[in-house]
Amino acid sequence: MRKPFVAGNWKMNKTVEQARVLVSEMLPGLQAVKAVERVLCPPFTSLMAIAAMLSGTDIGLGAQNMHWETAGAFTGEIAPAMVKEFCQYVILGHSERRTYFGETDETVNRKVRAALAHGLTPIVCIGETLAENEAGRTAEVVSRQIEQGLKDLTPEQASGLVIAYEPVWAIGTGRAASGEDANRVVGDVIRPTLAKMFGNTVAEGVRVLYGGSVTAANAAEFFTQPQIDGALVGGASLKAAEFVKIVEAAAQ
Ligand code: PGA
Repeated sequence: MRKPFVAGNWKMNKTVEQARVLVSEMLPGLQAVKAVERVLCPPFTSLMAIAAMLSGTDIGLGAQNMHWETAGAFTGEIAPAMVKEFCQYVILGHSERRTYFGETDETVNRKVRAALAHGLTPIVCIGETLAENEAGRTAEVVSRQIEQGLKDLTPEQASGLVIAYEPVWAIGTGRAASGEDANRVVGDVIRPTLAKMFGNTVAEGVRVLYGGSVTAANAAEFFTQPQIDGALVGGASLKAAEFVKIVEAAAQ
């Protein structure tokens, strides 16, 4: 059985003070839903403050990115051990990182391996662009992102991953994929690719989330799909009541 998983990706939003307010608003609601693995991913600058607020709860904390090197002359970057001081999770390969900051399957792979080496659970994002989707290339793109992004992992390492299938055209657009279409990509492409690389047991055990314009109104459409284990939520994770409703829907 795969435990449902919902993470909030706050992206570049909220000062420390604003982050504290948002977490205090959602914390009671989130704490009530034990059946779901719940993770908040605020900006780096708020991690220390939010880690303090979450200590003693069973709610996880994640960063939104990380460098793969352990330390050194990489101005502006954050090392795995720095993330690990506060977090259990790290989002890697988000499409905004790939699109605006030049991340490739190869750099994603370095980051995934570094995260695992430091005991962090990577939430690895994959997904096709609108042009790729319309050209019928979804399966090819998504399987390549998995094959290259998860290259050289052992089955044991792969079994601890969380994968977020986020069609790029659905992110922040208000135009979510249909539950059925997302379920088909996970069941027909993502799990079979994982099975080829790491075996059936790993492929069936890895949590695969859907991401892209998930709201309280459409969350159930994804959570009722047999292949989808939860959601990576952007915009709707910045609204306390809305995010709590999404987490509650994942427990149904
Ligand atoms: P969105 O973002 O929910 O605002 O579409 C999802 C994501 O980027 O993870």
